[in-house]
Parts: sequence; C-alpha cells; structure tokens
Amino acid sequence: MKKIIIAIDGYSSTGKSTIAKKLAQALNYIYVDTGAMYRAVTYYALHHNCVFEGELISSKLIEALPKINISFKYNDALGFAEVYLNGENIEKDIRTMEVSQYVSPVAALSEVRQKLVQQQQQMGKEKGIVMDGRDIGTVVFPEAELKLFMTASAETRAMRRYKELLERGQQLSYEEVLKNVTTRDYIDSTRKDSPLKKAKDAIEIDNSNLTIEEQLTSILNLAKEKINS
Ligand code: DC
Repeated sequence: MKKIIIAIDGYSSTGKSTIAKKLAQALNYIYVDTGAMYRAVTYYALHHNCVFEGELISSKLIEALPKINISFKYNDALGFAEVYLNGENIEKDIRTMEVSQYVSPVAALSEVRQKLVQQQQQMGKEKGIVMDGRDIGTVVFPEAELKLFMTASAETRAMRRYKELLERGQQLSYEEVLKNVTTRDYIDSTRKDSPLKKAKDAIEIDNSNLTIEEQLTSILNLAKEKINS
C-alpha cells in the first residue's frame, strides 16, 4: 500500500501529539514528536551551563551542538518512541515547566533548527510517518501528502497543559501555565527562522470542542483518502 507523510503543525498544547500517536498506531506508521527534539536540546542547555542567570547563552549552546545526539527508541508498553539524549532516556525530564520556559528561545536559533530539520528529513525518507511540530508542513516536508494545522483557544490549551502538569505532580498555577503558553505562541510565531504558520495547503482543525475520538475519525478518513488516491 502507498505510504504517505502526515505533517501536523499547530500551537502548543493543541493535542497534536495525542492525535499523532493514535494516528500512527492506527496506520502502523512511525510517529516523531519534533517538539521533544527541541526540548532535548533545551534540557542539554540547562544541564551544561548554557543558561546563566536566567538567560540562554546562545553561543555556548551552538558550540556544543556537535556533542548533542538525539535519538528515539520505541517503548512497547507505552506504544510510542521515547526520546534519548546521548543515550539517556529523558522522555519524562523534558516535560517540565523549566524546559518549557527556555525551549522557544532555543528553537529560535537557526543552528539548532538546521541540525534538527536535517535529522527529521532523514527520518521521513521512507515515508510512512506522522510528524508533529511547528514547521513540518512548511519547512521539513513541504511535499507532505497530508498537512494538518491544529488550533484551540489559549485558555483551552492552558487548561489542558495545567491538568497534565498537575497529574505529573508539578505545582503551579493556571495563570503561570497560560502565560507560558501565550509567550511560547508569540516567540514561535514571530521568530525569523521557520515561524509557526499554517501551510497554504494545510487543513485547519479547531479542536476546542472536539473529542479525541471525533478528531481521530475525521483525520483517519483524510489519511485513507490520500493513501488510496
Ligand atoms: O510541541 P512542544 O510544545 O513540545 O514544542 C516545544 C517547543 O519547541 C515549542 O515551543 C516550539 C518548538 N518547536 C519548534 O520550533 N519546531 C518544531 N518543529 C517543534 C517544536
């Protein structure tokens, strides 16, 4: 059967990864969470003195880039691939507020983007892939057969992320999470290199009032149409 590339872009906490994972499972495709790759680089920066007095020291991180190796390993029990930094499983460590605070400035660095985009393009060479992020349909795979652009109100997204963080035992206020979500939206969509924007041929899905099952059903239909065309 024909294999395609499915690119899912959109604002933070729009449920991209939840849908992408389920879609990949249903189609028996590989799922790649590119946000996890930018988070892994940020985690490295935080643990290798590339952040000083709350400021990212870009030059230090850029210099260290050749030493950063990001990989994914499929976890059968979880049903998706976890992210590794230089051989260490950091899947859980990258979902903290600290990483979320620094990830947008890290992702705005062209040198970081260049390295990660190259790796992402390599991973999609054989197709049969669902990749989510901010620039997948515009920069990484402009030729992707199916492009989706997910949106939801900032309040809906912040509430989703807030509940997720609480479940993981992280203590913060809803207001802090909302501020992080809106700040990241701003940095991600106004940066010079590959800003977050909807590709011309992407299908926009506002999922503020849609269940995961509703989204999955309609997206699976779209994917099957493309696969069979
Ligand atoms: O999807 P996420 O929230 O885990 O992504 C974390 C950050 O990484 C997000 O604020 C923007 C950045 N990012 C990016 O610039 N390009 C991508 N393809 C994926 C994520």
